[in-house]
Amino acid sequence: MKIAHISKKLSILLMVAGAKGAVGSTVGAAVAAINKDPDAILSCLTTCRRFSSFLSSPEMQMVGWDTNVKSLGAAMEENGVLPDSLRKEHMEGIEKIIIRKPPSSMSDPKNQIKKLKEDMAEFGKAYPESYPVFINLLPAVGRIGRKNLNDLFQANSKTAKFFPDLLYAIAAVESGIPVINFTPNKIEAPAFLLATQREHVPIAGRDGKTGQTYLKVVLASALKERQFHVSGWYSLNLLGNADGKNLMDPEKASGKLANKTAVLDEILGTSGQKKSVRPFHKVHIDYYPPRGDAKEAWDVIDFSGLFGLPMSIRINLLGRDSILAAPLVLDLARWMVVLKAAGFSGPVPQLGFYFKMPVGKNPPLTFQEQAAALDRLEKDCMKRLMLKGK
Ligand SMILES: NC(=O)c1ccc[n+]([C@@H]2O[C@H](COP(=O)([O-])OP(=O)(O)OC[C@H]3O[C@@H](n4cnc5c(N)ncnc54)[C@H](O)[C@@H]3O)[C@@H](O)[C@H]2O)c1
Repeated sequence: MKIAHISKKLSILLMVAGAKGAVGSTVGAAVAAINKDPDAILSCLTTCRRFSSFLSSPEMQMVGWDTNVKSLGAAMEENGVLPDSLRKEHMEGIEKIIIRKPPSSMSDPKNQIKKLKEDMAEFGKAYPESYPVFINLLPAVGRIGRKNLNDLFQANSKTAKFFPDLLYAIAAVESGIPVINFTPNKIEAPAFLLATQREHVPIAGRDGKTGQTYLKVVLASALKERQFHVSGWYSLNLLGNADGKNLMDPEKASGKLANKTAVLDEILGTSGQKKSVRPFHKVHIDYYPPRGDAKEAWDVIDFSGLFGLPMSIRINLLGRDSILAAPLVLDLARWMVVLKAAGFSGPVPQLGFYFKMPVGKNPPLTFQEQAAALDRLEKDCMKRLMLKGK
C-alpha cells in the first residue's frame, strides 16, 4: 500500500514565542546542531525511532518572537545553558534564526493577532519547503479564569496585555499551524478548542514534563503497581534561571504548582478520596541564583508495605532545566507534523507522556499507560497516512 508521503517537504519549521529564553535558545542550538550532525541530536529524542517512513529528513529550521532586544547569541550567553565552546560551535546556524519583536501589548488584541498571522505567513514564505509548528515558550503567568479566557478569545479583553499566549495560539490556529503549549499557562478556552477542530489543527499541552515530575510519574506508577501505599511525598525544586525567578511570584507559580501537585493523586487514583486519607503531597519551588539553569530537585517519599510498616525513599536530581526541556520540544514538533498530516485536530491527550497537565479528554495517567498511548498513537497515524496514500 502506498503511504501518503509527508516527507516531500524537507524540514520542520519551529515558530517559537519566547525564542530567546532559556528553553527557546537551547532549542535554537539544537536546531542548528541537528542540521549539522543529525545523529547527535536525534539519538536524544524519544521519537528517534518513530515515523521514519514519513519524516525521512530530520532537518529543522527555527524562527520566532521575543521582547528581548539582544541578539539570540547574546541572550544565549546570558541564559548560561550551554558552555561557550558549544555555543560557538553552532553559532553559524544560530545566527540564521530570524526572531521578530512581537506586536505591542498595548495595541488592540485583534490587531496583535493580525500582525502575528502576517509574521507567520512571512516565515512560511521564507521556508516554503517546511512544515510549520507553533511552540509557546512564554513565561508563566498564573491562573487565568474561564471568563477571562473566553473574553480573551473574543480578542476584546484587557487580559491580553499580560497574557499574550492565547493571541499567538489563535494566530497559529487561524493560519492552520499546529500548536504546542509547553508553558503552564492555560489557553484552552472552549471557543479556542472549537476553532482548532474547525481549522483541522491539532494542539498539545500543557506544561512540559521534563525532570522531577517525569520521575514522579515513573516512580508513583511503579509504587502503585507493587501495591505500596504512599502516605507522603515532599518535592523541592531549586532553580536559578529566569523561569525560577518568575515563579517566586506566588500568583505566577500557582498554575505550575497546581499542575505539579495534581499528578500524584491522578496516578495513585486517590483524587476522589477525603483529604485525610489521601497522600500528603507538597511541592515547593525556590529561586536559587547560584545554580542558574542547573536545577536541583529533592524528593522524600514515605510509603508502607506489609503490616503497614513504613519505608522511605530519597531522590536528589541534579538536572539541567533547558537541556531536559529542549529535546522534548523537538519531539513534540515531530509529533505535531505527523498528527496534522494524519488528519488529527483539537487536543491530543495521547501525548500525556510529555505534559504535566495533558489537555483533552481522558489522558493516560500512569507511566505505563502514557508510553503505551504513544505506541498506539503512532500506529493510528501510520494507518491513517496509509489510507490517505491509497
Ligand atoms: N525548562 C523546563 O524544564 C520547563 C518545563 C515545563 C515548562 N516550562 C515553561 O516553559 C516556558 C519557558 O521557560 P524558559 O525557562 O525558557 O523561560 P524564560 O523566562 O527564560 O524565557 C521566556 C522568554 O519569553 C520572552 N517573552 C516575554 N514576553 C514575550 C512576548 N510577549 N512575546 C515574545 N516573547 C516574550 C522573554 O523575553 C524570554 O526570552 C515557561 O513558561 C516555563 O515555565 C519549562
